[in-house]
Amino acid sequence: MASTSGLTIPCKAAVAWEAGKPLVMERVEVAPPQAMEVRMKVKYTSLCHTDLYFWEAKGQNPLFPRIFGHEAAGIVESVGEGVTDLEAGDHVLPVFTGECGECAHCKSEESNMCDLLRIDTNRGVMLSDKKSRFSINGNPINHFLGTSTFSEYTVVHAGCLAKINPLAPLDKVCVLSCGISTGLGATLNVAKPKKGSSVAVFGLGTVGLAAAEGARIAGASRIIGIDLNSSRFEAAKKFGVTEFINPKDYDKPVQEVIAEMTNGGVDRSVECTGNINAMISAFECVHDGWGVAVLVGVPTKDAVFMTKPINVLNERTLKGTFFGNYKPRTDLPSIVDMYMNKKLELEKFLTHRVPFSEINKAFELMLRGEGLRCIIDIDE
Ligand SMILES: NC(=O)c1ccc[n+]([C@@H]2O[C@H](COP(=O)([O-])OP(=O)(O)OC[C@H]3O[C@@H](n4cnc5c(N)ncnc54)[C@H](O)[C@@H]3O)[C@@H](O)[C@H]2O)c1
Ligand SMILES: [Zn+2]
Ligand SMILES: [Zn+2]
Repeated sequence: MASTSGLTIPCKAAVAWEAGKPLVMERVEVAPPQAMEVRMKVKYTSLCHTDLYFWEAKGQNPLFPRIFGHEAAGIVESVGEGVTDLEAGDHVLPVFTGECGECAHCKSEESNMCDLLRIDTNRGVMLSDKKSRFSINGNPINHFLGTSTFSEYTVVHAGCLAKINPLAPLDKVCVLSCGISTGLGATLNVAKPKKGSSVAVFGLGTVGLAAAEGARIAGASRIIGIDLNSSRFEAAKKFGVTEFINPKDYDKPVQEVIAEMTNGGVDRSVECTGNINAMISAFECVHDGWGVAVLVGVPTKDAVFMTKPINVLNERTLKGTFFGNYKPRTDLPSIVDMYMNKKLELEKFLTHRVPFSEINKAFELMLRGEGLRCIIDIDE
C-alpha cells in the first residue's frame, strides 16, 4: 500500500464552477476510497464530446461545481475494503459504465448495461454513501460519470476499472477508455457489417472514425463518411473512409443522397454525432429488408426520435449502444492487447497534447472542431 493509503490527499484538479466557463485549477482534497472503491493516480486523460455537453449544459442537466473527465489512464494508489482483484500499482483504465459481474446484464452475453454501475450522467456522488470524495474547504464537488479524471487523484468504483497490461503506454491507451472502444465496438459488436458491405458513418470525430476503423476491419467495401465539417474529410481517409458527404452541399435530406449513391441504402450505418436529425437520417439511410442503424451519439435530454413506422416495417433495424457493447472489465484488456500487437493503431487519433495547466485548450479545440483527441498530461 502507498504511504498515502487511508489519508486524504490534497492535489490539483480542474474544477468546472459554472456551465460553459473555463475550468479553474484548484487544490482539492480527495478522501480515501470506501468499500469497493479504488483511489487512482490519473496519469493521462483526454476530452470526449460527452464531457463537453455536460460542461456546456445546454441540452443537459446542469450540476456544478463538478470535476469532469472520463477518458483516462492511471495507476491504483490504494483500494477500499472488499476490493480483491486490484492493488496499489496496477495500471487501470476507468470506464463510465461498469461491470459488477453479478447482475443479469453482467451475466448476459448480449448486454453491458450493468444494473449497478451503468452510465448515470445525473449522479454527482459515489454509490455507496451518496457522498462526494472531492472537497474544497469542506465543500463537496460533484463527480462526473463515476470517473472525474480531470484531477491528479480520483476515486472510482472498482467495477468501473479495467486492469490492463502494465507495459501499455498510458499516454496512448487512455483513449481506449471511451471514444475508440465505443466506435470500434459499435461497428464490430452491434452493426456487424458483412465483408464487402456498405457502411455509412455519421460524424467523423474520434468515435465516428473508430467506427469507420471497425468497418474497415470487418471488410466493408464502401465506407461513406458524413460530416457538416468538411475539414474532417482529409484526415478520415487514413481511417478507411472511401466517400464523403457534407449534408450542407445538398438541398435534399442526406438519407436521399445516400439512397441514390447506394441503390436504395447502405447495409449498415453508425451515428456518432449526438444530433437528433443525424440520428433520424442514419436510420432512414439504411436499406430496407436488411439495413441496421446503430445510434452512439449522446442526445440532448429532450430530443425525440421521429420516423414513419413504415420505415421500420420495411425491415430496417434500429439499435443503440453504450461503450460499443464491450463489457469494460472483461473486454478492455484485450483491446489494449490489440494495440500492443499492432492490430489497432491509436497514434492517428492523437492529434494534440497539452499539460494539465492548459486543459482549457482541449475544450477550445473541440469547440472549433479541430483535430481528434487531445491528450492532457496530468503531471506536466
Ligand atoms: N454511446 C456511447 O457510449 C458514447 C461514448 C462516447 C461518446 N459518445 C458520443 O458520441 C458522439 C461523438 O463523440 P466524439 O468525441 O467523436 O465527438 P467529436 O466532436 O470529436 O465529433 C463529432 C463530429 O460530428 C459532426 N457532426 C455534428 N453534428 C452533425 C450532423 N448533424 N451531421 C453530421 N455530422 C455532424 C461534427 O462536425 C464532428 O466532426 C458524441 O455525441 C458523444 O457524446 C457516445
Ligand atoms: Zn466519452
Ligand atoms: Zn452488473
